[in-house]
Amino acid sequence: MAEVYDGAVDKGLEGVIACTTGVSSIVDATLCYRGYLIEDLAKNSSFEEVVYLLWNDRMPSATELKTFSDTLRSGMKLDPAFVQQLKGLPTEGVHPMAWLRTAVSAAALWDSDSQSMEQADLEQVALRLTAKVGPMVALFERFRQGKDYVEGNPEKSFAWNFLYMLKGEEPDAEMVDVFDTCLILHADHELNCSAFSARVTASSLSDVYSAVTSAIGALKGPLHGGANEQVMRMLIDIGTVEKAQEWIKNALANKEKVMGFGHRVYKNGDPRAKILRSMSESLCKKAGTAYYDMSKVIDDTVQSEKGLLPNVDFYSASVYYSMGIPLDLYTPIFATSRVSGWLAHIFEQYSKNRIYRPRGEWVGKEGLKYTPIAER
Ligand code: ACO
Repeated sequence: MAEVYDGAVDKGLEGVIACTTGVSSIVDATLCYRGYLIEDLAKNSSFEEVVYLLWNDRMPSATELKTFSDTLRSGMKLDPAFVQQLKGLPTEGVHPMAWLRTAVSAAALWDSDSQSMEQADLEQVALRLTAKVGPMVALFERFRQGKDYVEGNPEKSFAWNFLYMLKGEEPDAEMVDVFDTCLILHADHELNCSAFSARVTASSLSDVYSAVTSAIGALKGPLHGGANEQVMRMLIDIGTVEKAQEWIKNALANKEKVMGFGHRVYKNGDPRAKILRSMSESLCKKAGTAYYDMSKVIDDTVQSEKGLLPNVDFYSASVYYSMGIPLDLYTPIFATSRVSGWLAHIFEQYSKNRIYRPRGEWVGKEGLKYTPIAER
């Protein structure tokens, strides 16, 4: 086993500006998509409108939004031959993010435009991919439960369709609103790990599916999108509000990371966490669970002990739990929304591309001479 060296400059590229971007911006504790505050969008917009904004760098007119939404929603229908192929993938003991990474990669083989770099084809691919990631996630869950694919209703919103395709029954209007807000909050986030992965892959002028598959792999990790599932596992593990403070103090004393806290960029709080916190409060109270109260104790304890604030993954866990969504689907749901942001970044990358090719500072051995194996 080679020795692990730790001499890298700018470990984790902290503070490094890797490219210019006009997709979303983070300044102190403020997040904007294309110049619009996340709070404004979460309150007033819809996921469909946010996707239009991210891709077109402007808000749509009413007619443009209707056409765009109709196309996106009707694109949620999965090809029966593709559904049949996905049925062949294992689900038992398989993490849905691993399954989704494979399914999205396979979807390229059903898309005749997947290798094209023509603008019109790229736009169609983007629409298809954004429309289909959610239905693929829903399909995984249904297959896992031994149930069949449910077709959506293009007359209804993207959020409605996802919940319907997941559960096979018409969702409650309040849950649709909550879910739509979650989709908006997760749609983009400047040069995060998965968006950067997508851009790096796109920078070799590889195709959109390859770039999105790279991004899914990056999102899956517990230091990035995978944290929301781990937050819920922690809440369940803690069990009661009374045990929360001691549990967290012990974890911190053991130098463990508390999932859902800390951020590379936000040092004064993640604005998405504030919105999700109030959603968690009302949903947990309504569901009669203690997960919001427990989360609040954890939040206060991590702040007072470590000075760390919650990120997007902390309160989204109890929100999804209150909606009856299985724990391991939290990160795939993140991908269902974030694919729209990845695509905005991929197109921005294509539009002013230069291949990413940084250097590594050499800290290894030097001047070694080859010895024939018999002499070693
Ligand atoms: N719990 C306990 N301590 C923490 C946490 C945490 N969640 N986050 C950071 N710290 C500590 C580190 O141990 C380190 O302490 P030290 O200086 O004593 O060694 C210090 O704070 C700095 O942390 P880094 O890990 O170096 O910060 P970095 O910017 O590299 O990482 C990250 C940011 C990955 C988000 C980190 O805070 C973390 O691991 N958080 C938990 C996982 C998580 O919630 N990820 C989701 C992030 S949001 C998203 O990607 C969607």
